[in-house]
Amino acid sequence: MPIKAGHIGRQKALFLHNLVSAIRPASTLEIGLFSGTSAIVIMAAAKREGYRGHIAMDPAQTTAAESAGLKNIEKAGLSPLFTFMEAESCYALPFLILEKKVSFEFAFIDASHHFDHTLIEFFYIDRLIPVGTIIAFDDVSTPAVEGVLNYIAANRHYVCRRIDALVFAVKMAHDSRHWFEFNQFKIPATDAFMNTKYTTSGKEPRLKKYE
Ligand SMILES: C[S@@+](CC[C@H](N)C(=O)[O-])C[C@H]1O[C@@H](n2cnc3c(N)ncnc32)[C@H](O)[C@@H]1O
Repeated sequence: MPIKAGHIGRQKALFLHNLVSAIRPASTLEIGLFSGTSAIVIMAAAKREGYRGHIAMDPAQTTAAESAGLKNIEKAGLSPLFTFMEAESCYALPFLILEKKVSFEFAFIDASHHFDHTLIEFFYIDRLIPVGTIIAFDDVSTPAVEGVLNYIAANRHYVCRRIDALVFAVKMAHDSRHWFEFNQFKIPATDAFMNTKYTTSGKEPRLKKYE
């Protein structure tokens, strides 16, 4: 375990474990299952009497991830605490809000890392959590994720604290903005990050400019 690379590393796993152990959430949520490493860490830390379990969503678990997450969770003996939705978060999260009427006391986002998807994930998760809940974001050195966090810190009732490549965003109050409120937020520089990624991956840009 894990059977596939791409999971959170040891240091982040330790931070997540310590945080979740301290919070003692009754239910937990995760976007991006992949190898199941973070799911196992969260469930192992939250497991106690009264813990209702963990829901994770990922559209590529049985395809690209070859069911690695599901197999690892089974091996860890945590399947009874686990519910999986093989779907993109933009469909699965509103489904949870409308159909399931559930709420969560801890959430972890480690999925597409695209600006729009990450913002949508935050938007829906905010509606699934009470005040005082922490949403943890992975890979916050990615400019798109950093941009979302800058938006949240400037425009929503959240306090964001960074540890390593994780940010813990604490919900301080429900949304109470006037219709006209919108605060400027910092858009991170992207060139150096993108150039490094293109060089190391050998991938060509797919994002074209249409005039
Ligand atoms: C970096 S991996 C997650 C690693 C996981 N935290 C672990 O420790 O194994 C990112 C995962 O997010 C999934 N993903 C990408 N876009 C998604 C979306 N829109 N909704 C849900 N999951 C998504 C990918 O399929 C991939 O499995």
